[in-house]
Amino acid sequence: MFGDRKVTFSGVQPSGNLTIGNYLGAIRNFKEYSEQYKTFYCVVDEHAVTVRQTPADLRRRTYETLALYMACGLDPEKNTLYVQSMVHEHAELAWILNCFTMFGELSRMTQFKDKSARHADNINAGLFTYPVLMAADILLYQTDVVPVGVDQVQHVELCRDIANRFNQIHPDTFTVPEAVMPKSGKKIMSLADPEKKMSKSDENQNAVVYILDDRDTIIRKFKRAVTDSGSEIRQDPQKAGVSNLITIYSCFTGKTAEEIEREFSGRGYGDFKLAVGEATADALAPVQAEYRRLLADKAMLEAQMKKGAEEASYYARRTLSKVQKKLGFVQIR
Ligand code: TYM
Repeated sequence: MFGDRKVTFSGVQPSGNLTIGNYLGAIRNFKEYSEQYKTFYCVVDEHAVTVRQTPADLRRRTYETLALYMACGLDPEKNTLYVQSMVHEHAELAWILNCFTMFGELSRMTQFKDKSARHADNINAGLFTYPVLMAADILLYQTDVVPVGVDQVQHVELCRDIANRFNQIHPDTFTVPEAVMPKSGKKIMSLADPEKKMSKSDENQNAVVYILDDRDTIIRKFKRAVTDSGSEIRQDPQKAGVSNLITIYSCFTGKTAEEIEREFSGRGYGDFKLAVGEATADALAPVQAEYRRLLADKAMLEAQMKKGAEEASYYARRTLSKVQKKLGFVQIR
């Protein structure tokens, strides 16, 4: 809490082109907290280097992610928008929290298991302690709510465990945060394999719709989306592909699943896929236009990064200093 305002924190990695999964599961929902909460939205570049990045690409995507935050309606006057590596307290608190996190806990993280299978030649310690840095991100700001997609909930649960453990030894240090997910869109699935999460690191470009894909590409990808051999458009665990498309259509149009089933009753998959593609392209068009406008102004983005980092540092310093004092670190200023 800050005064009477609750705090929201979330982050997105600049590790690839952002997908409609990132948009519907997370970024689109950030704005609803802007008015009533104190909000921190971070571009988490330190998390991104747990897998090898090309430096020029990482730098470019850091600007792009910030521009996309703003294009999704996050006003930098109302939200603290910043880049993680520009606020050194994140890494410092992460070190301390490492000493309050158990090897066994980290070994159980499903994302670690997935990523270490995918990057078998680079199972580095950062990949393993990744959730601890994430806990530091969240706890530095005394966060109450963390809007995320379902794949990040396990990490937020671990963050709660770390906070509770620390608080038990050193009372009243951290606010214990809670993950919040959207009613619809918390897990958008791959268009090529609807049993798998849509992911920005997927090598199959047809599996993923990017926020910045042009209209024709979006429509083409939805036309190719894997469905099943039937023809009925209804939500059903046996029909993962169609169910995923219904979710996406529902998120972009605001229609309920029942309304969608009625709208397409007696019509084929072809019609439906085209409608999903068009609705997605229509909804993303204004975000894309605003993004292009913002990205063209590099000086403005840099000024925002600087301002955001200064704001974030102010709060981060307060928590870090409290933690250091509780641990017995000598503080001479
Ligand atoms: P990242 O960059 O993988 O994803 C950013 C956000 O997008 C959500 N998301 C999805 N939601 C629905 N369907 C999908 N297919 C989908 N794919 C991704 C993610 O759940 C996430 O909310 N570790 C985090 C970044 C992070 C963070 C934090 C988040 C670092 N520190 C502190 C919250 C709080 C990550 O890799 O997200």
